[in-house]
Amino acid sequence: MKYEQVCNNLDDTKELACRFAKLVTDGCFVNLYGEIGAGKTAFVKLVADALEVKEKVTSPSFVILNEYHSGILPMYHFDLYRLENEGVKTIIDELREYSEGRQLTFVEWAEFSQDEIPFNHLKINVTYNDDDSRVYTFESTEAEGDKIIEGLSR
Ligand SMILES: Nc1ncnc2c1ncn2[C@@H]1O[C@H](COP(=O)(O)OP(=O)(O)OP(=O)(O)O)[C@@H](O)[C@H]1O
Ligand SMILES: [Mg+2]
Repeated sequence: MKYEQVCNNLDDTKELACRFAKLVTDGCFVNLYGEIGAGKTAFVKLVADALEVKEKVTSPSFVILNEYHSGILPMYHFDLYRLENEGVKTIIDELREYSEGRQLTFVEWAEFSQDEIPFNHLKINVTYNDDDSRVYTFESTEAEGDKIIEGLSR
């Protein structure tokens, strides 16, 4: 299943993130795709706000993983960019653990997984324009993702 939404500005992305947050309270493992500056981290930050995460949410580009425990559900935010393909191979088993249970896990730069992250529930691709508009495309790869896409489509 697929769901696509055009966000003309950050407020639109915030609205999308709020709707998304209400649908993931049982937990979800999300791979995020899209080029540098597309709006992957921006979306994660807005979802964190909607989940009432109190800590400041920052990009995990340098630390690989940030975690947040103050919100409605635990949130884990990976950025695989610096690990590249070889590094990702070494943490696949750890990543898999974050796909189980009631928590929300986001993985930026899942491209580096070379499709070795088969346990994701949802993929989000962000495309970038010269202005503030972005296109967020959600694609589910299994039943849990389907439920979220159905909710977004309503
Ligand atoms: N409609 C919009 N939706 C999301 N972000 C937007 C929008 N309009 C402008 N922006 C801005 O675009 C930038 C997106 O940067 P962000 O850090 O989210 O990119 P990224 O995809 O995580 O890149 P990287 O691969 O470097 O981690 C932010 O500065 C954000 O404020
Ligand atoms: Mg980012």
